[in-house]
Amino acid sequence: MKERIETLISTSAIEKRMDELAEVINKDYAGEELYLVCVLKGGVFFMVELAKRITVPVTLNFMDVSSYGNGTESSGHIKILMDLDESIEGKNVLIVEDIVDSGRTLSHLVELLKSRKPKSLKLCTLLDKPERRVTEVEVHYTGFTIPDAFVVGYGLDYAQRYRNLNYIGVISFEEE
Ligand code: IMP
Ligand code: MG
Repeated sequence: MKERIETLISTSAIEKRMDELAEVINKDYAGEELYLVCVLKGGVFFMVELAKRITVPVTLNFMDVSSYGNGTESSGHIKILMDLDESIEGKNVLIVEDIVDSGRTLSHLVELLKSRKPKSLKLCTLLDKPERRVTEVEVHYTGFTIPDAFVVGYGLDYAQRYRNLNYIGVISFEEE
């Protein structure tokens, strides 16, 4: 099978949108400290670029949660592969994700982190595919709402590849 990638969101559009999101986040958290939780691996590119635009005191933290296998469909099975290494009690936690699809991963993660008593807990995602939602999840900051297509780039992978593309593309498969 031949893989074809068509640009959906350009690098400049992503950068402009991150400027806008950061402006809102900086206002919302004025006078506060922000504890970013990146969901590995897809959230890395977005979190790093977003963090560069944050002007309130901020720390970068990582968790690894698995929900997908090597295909393009959610398994509905979620596992914490790597946890935070400190307490988040009393902190302003902002989860940074690449994409909210079925919502299963995030709703699970939100419940888990809520139980650890943060001061506040919000969710920021680069992409949202609302048509695919199976589990309700409240998203506070969204980069782009996209149609139901499998996308790669800017952290998003297909079978672990294409995360390094500096744009978002729709991947399709053709017989050779
Ligand atoms: P959810 O639990 O179905 O919301 O899945 C969320 C996770 O699935 C994301 O963090 C991604 O890792 C992965 N995922 C969902 N849709 C896509 C896509 O279009 N491309 C790449 N990964 C995706
Ligand atoms: Mg992910």
